Amino acid sequence: MERTFLMIKPDGVQRGLIGEIVGRFERKGLKLVAAKFMQVDRELAAKHYAEHEGKPFYPPLIDFITSGPVFAMVWEGDNVIALTRALIGKTNGVDAAPGTIRSDYAVHTNLNLIHGSDSPESAELEISNYFAPNELVSYEQTIQRWV
Ligand code: GTP
Ligand code: MG
Repeated sequence: MERTFLMIKPDGVQRGLIGEIVGRFERKGLKLVAAKFMQVDRELAAKHYAEHEGKPFYPPLIDFITSGPVFAMVWEGDNVIALTRALIGKTNGVDAAPGTIRSDYAVHTNLNLIHGSDSPESAELEISNYFAPNELVSYEQTIQRWV
């Protein structure tokens, strides 16, 4: 079963959208296996956004992701990486398809509410950056046979 790392960014937390965003993944039928309300420090932020180091938007990106608490999560399901990226929408709220989280609630590229892993490799790395193995809960989600 595939896993992904999702994180509601400081703008999503401040705007009171945790419940709304988490509800979308729940209603899709995905399975939550870990969650944590936390503050990202600059060291973790640098690890998280290492691929963007050196780009002009990197310094404000690090400032933003460390500017307030985030809600970090691990979700599980068939094709969960592609499914959650589709529900999140394109990086920019203007290009994101209507009905996606970023289209419905985001206006600016740098305030786009939520992060989602973009590949199995990044998911594995990001999950291990944010969660210890014993923080991932193993359980049977009884609705799975109907999803
Ligand atoms: P994440 O889920 O946050 O990783 O977004 P993404 O996968 O849609 O975008 P990407 O990984 O390419 O970039 C990470 C973050 O950097 C984005 O969410 C944006 O906030 C920011 N970013 C990416 N490209 C640009 C850009 O061209 N300009 C600005 N200002 N920010 C950018
Ligand atoms: Mg990305």
